Amino acid sequence: MAWRELWAGYLAFYEATVPEAVTAATWARILAPDPTYSAVVAELNGVVVGFANLVLHDFTWSDRPAGLLHDLFVRPDVRGSGAGRAMIQHVIDQGKRDGWNRVYWMTKEDNAVARRLYDTFAPADGFVRYRVRL
Ligand SMILES: CC(C)(COP(=O)(O)OP(=O)(O)OC[C@H]1O[C@@H](n2cnc3c(N)ncnc32)[C@H](O)[C@@H]1OP(=O)(O)O)[C@@H](O)C(=O)NCCC(=O)NCCS
Repeated sequence: MAWRELWAGYLAFYEATVPEAVTAATWARILAPDPTYSAVVAELNGVVVGFANLVLHDFTWSDRPAGLLHDLFVRPDVRGSGAGRAMIQHVIDQGKRDGWNRVYWMTKEDNAVARRLYDTFAPADGFVRYRVRL
């Protein structure tokens, strides 16, 4: 399945591993009717070449939800052809249509290629993430 292959490429990019059960659960949540988890894919010549996973969540500073672009990946051989930009724009357009408060995402500070793309949507907001593993 295309999403799974791309998901594996995304995890490899981050040199990360996710147990198969978690991958299966994530995919099941994306397919479920609950709008909390969803995904968009990019197609080139009828082939899925990229995906973005989205988590829609409540937000204490607004009565409207926030859309978190959780994962974004485009197959290496088709990068630079506009797939990444198209998926982000699609999610922003969806958020505008559905009345979300914001669409936001995070990336590593040194991910220069991704940030070149992201900087064309909005400037980085200066927040720094802290994470306590449990
Ligand atoms: C980040 C990523 C999703 C961008 O996808 P993409 O389809 O290549 O992006 P686009 O084709 O829409 O590129 C848009 C911009 O990004 C930059 N860019 C993307 N790929 C590039 C490349 N190979 N070389 C130079 N610039 C590049 C350019 O500034 C480009 O601007 P342009 O549209 O004016 O030419 C893709 O590079 C990727 O999957 N990277 C690995 C995983 C990753 O970093 N994910 C993001 C984690 S938060």
